Amino acid sequence: MHISHPAPDVTALTDAVPLPGIGFLPVNAHLLHAEQPVLVDTGLRAASAEFLDVLWSLVDPADLRWIYLTHPDRDHTGSVFEILEAAPSARLVTTFLGMGLLSLERPVPPDRVYLLNPGQSLDVGDRGLLAFRPPVYDNPATTAIIDDRTGTCFSSDCFGAPMTSRDLVESDDVAAIPHADLIAGQRLWAVLDSPWLCEVDRNLFHSSLHPLRDADPPVVLSTHLPPAHHRTAAMLDTLAGAPDAPPYIGPDQEAFLRLLTELEPATGGPAPQNG
Ligand SMILES: [Fe+2]
Ligand SMILES: [Fe+2]
Repeated sequence: MHISHPAPDVTALTDAVPLPGIGFLPVNAHLLHAEQPVLVDTGLRAASAEFLDVLWSLVDPADLRWIYLTHPDRDHTGSVFEILEAAPSARLVTTFLGMGLLSLERPVPPDRVYLLNPGQSLDVGDRGLLAFRPPVYDNPATTAIIDDRTGTCFSSDCFGAPMTSRDLVESDDVAAIPHADLIAGQRLWAVLDSPWLCEVDRNLFHSSLHPLRDADPPVVLSTHLPPAHHRTAAMLDTLAGAPDAPPYIGPDQEAFLRLLTELEPATGGPAPQNG
């Protein structure tokens, strides 16, 4: 796990998921050191033990006040129940739908939840966190937030991109990624994560980008991208072109078998059967 400080008052806990045939997807959680500390997303399940070790070295469980879940997909909920258990004062910030979806895995006590809808702001002592619906998302419970003290935007899945190497996942800034790779990666991720994007009315979609263009956050922290400093307008331009990117179709069974052979050429175990 990689630890960094991508924005004022923010520590990032960065992991990566290999996506065979695609690259390496960053998976970031962020600890906002507000007067009332806020954890934004909770990492990967497989890395939970290390995630918790690092988290509790950064904040005392007794002091953590908010767990902001941008949405209850599994790459965001890895340690959520352990953190709720260890941090008795922490409340889970999500939507009504997010609470319901998470409760399918394990009941969430209602008194541990704080429901926040797009357009509403969460007071965390020395600042407010304004929730909004990002322009692309893969889960109907998704919200993103802007810190009204620093302007930092936590954008959830929006603006993500698979990296061409594991090393790039830990970049201090997206400027480290070759420009063409960044644009291709962000457009691929946009249509992979939000396949409905290929069908949208282009003008309406472009209009939906205006609020974030106007807000122009100085730093965008996506769950699935290295930090992006002073790059919001350029990233929105990239996103504006995403509906015209080729739709993502994953491997079918035949291609999957080829992929397995490529990935594990030396293993002598039984191969999965076609059909
Ligand atoms: Fe997601
Ligand atoms: Fe995600």
